[in-house]
Amino acid sequence: MSNSSLFRILTACIAAAGFLTGCQYNVEQPCPDQKAQYNASIELVLSAHCTGCHGGQNPEAGLALDGYNAAANATLTGDVIDRINRSATDALVMPPNGSFTECDIILLQKWAEAGAPENE
Ligand code: HEC
Repeated sequence: MSNSSLFRILTACIAAAGFLTGCQYNVEQPCPDQKAQYNASIELVLSAHCTGCHGGQNPEAGLALDGYNAAANATLTGDVIDRINRSATDALVMPPNGSFTECDIILLQKWAEAGAPENE
C-alpha cells in the first residue's frame, strides 16, 4: 500500500469517528450515561469538586459532603442543588471555581429527585 492511500484511509477513519462521536455526544446524548447513585457516580463527582473544602476535620461553612449520609442529607435539604444551579457570576455558586459542568448539575439533580440512593 502506498503512503498516500494509507493517509487517505486514516483521514477517513478520523473523520468518521469525529462525526459519530460528535453526533452522539453533543446532540443526541449530551451527558455520559452515568447512574445517579452515590457509589456509582456521586461520590466521585463530589470528591473531585467539593470535598476538598467540604470535608475532613474543619469543613467550609460547617458543611461536610464526604461520606454518603452527609452528602445525601445536604442534597435532600435542597442546599446543594440551590448552590450548584446559581449563575457563574453569583458569589454563592458552588463550586466557587466554576468547575462544575451542566452534566454534573443534571446528575446531582437526578440523584436528588430519586431520593439520593446509595446503591441500585
Ligand atoms: C474552594 C472551596 C470550596 C469548594 C471547592 C466548594 N465549596 Fe461550597 N462553600 C465554600 C465556602 C467558603 C462556603 C461558605 C460561603 C458561602 O456560603 O458561599 C460554602 C458554602 C456552601 C454551601 C452552603 C452551606 C451552608 O450551610 O450555608 C453549600 C450547600 C455548598 N457550599 C455546596 C458545595 C458543593 C455542592 C460543592 C461542590 C460542587 C462545593 N460547595 C464546593 C467553599 C467551597
